[in-house]
Amino acid sequence: MRTIGLLASGGDAPGMNACVAAIAHRAEKLSLQVRGVFGGFQGLLQANSIPIGTEISGLARRGGSFLGTSRNSGVVEELKKVGVETAMRRCCVDGLVILGGGGSLAAAACIADEGTPIVGVPCTIDNDINGTDYTLGFDSAVNKGLRAADEIMDTAESLSERIFIIETLGGTTGHIAIATAYAADADAVFVHEAPRDIDSAAQKIRAKMDAGGTHGLVVICEGLGTAEIAKKLEDATEKRTRITALGHAQRGGSPTYLDRTFGRGFGEKAVEMLISGEFNKMTAYRGGKVESGPLAETAAEPRDIDADKYAIVNGP
Ligand code: F6P
Repeated sequence: MRTIGLLASGGDAPGMNACVAAIAHRAEKLSLQVRGVFGGFQGLLQANSIPIGTEISGLARRGGSFLGTSRNSGVVEELKKVGVETAMRRCCVDGLVILGGGGSLAAAACIADEGTPIVGVPCTIDNDINGTDYTLGFDSAVNKGLRAADEIMDTAESLSERIFIIETLGGTTGHIAIATAYAADADAVFVHEAPRDIDSAAQKIRAKMDAGGTHGLVVICEGLGTAEIAKKLEDATEKRTRITALGHAQRGGSPTYLDRTFGRGFGEKAVEMLISGEFNKMTAYRGGKVESGPLAETAAEPRDIDADKYAIVNGP
């Protein structure tokens, strides 16, 4: 292994740049070269790569992904035709670290064979990848949700008689919504993985406000029809609802301590895996440790939600 290529695919996530910086540092210590492949799998196909070194260290503090990303499933088919090893040669890299979410890592598993020097790093704010308990960006995204809840609560305590609703990102998985709702002590959380029980949420909030509570707080994952749920809650409780949709702001911003730490841990592990020949695998956090795990698991169903936290938030 002489030159490691770095490619980000799918969405960006806070902590990705920290991971790239950690790889550049570790590679320098091992006298390895690093090249950034810009624009995801498309960039790999077009041989769009340039050398990068430790001069990028400062980017570790920044959200987003300076490598750029792409979401284009057609490219994967083209890459299969060209052959990923050929594409890597054209990019002048002997090994490749692919940073991405479930779809991107599943694509990586699909273009790589047993011996292809590819290592995945799980990066998505959604924390929904099977085979790892943590994906880069989740903590930063949940902290954004929690900060929004705290700020809304400042208002809620004075501007009472309202039900405040926070819509989080998360795609079709509810990890962000549940974690935010649990930490913010919300009255209810709605996610794709469980049936919507608007009546129970309304009764709970109504009882709380009848007993002197000033407001209600509900967290809803995107894509569930937040406005419609709000209307139903409003009708059932006769209280005004106010929606804050966090949108893409939830995905940006400086990575938290956890995301920088995992970014570094995953980055160092990825280099170790490439030089020791642990190919076609991903870095994973399991049982409290950063280790290597199968890349193929990422293609399975998304990781299950935390049913205990979900039940506590929606319970009495
Ligand atoms: O997968 C990460 C994520 O931020 C999801 O939470 C969200 O649904 C999606 O990406 C937003 O990205 P896009 O604008 O491509 O839909």
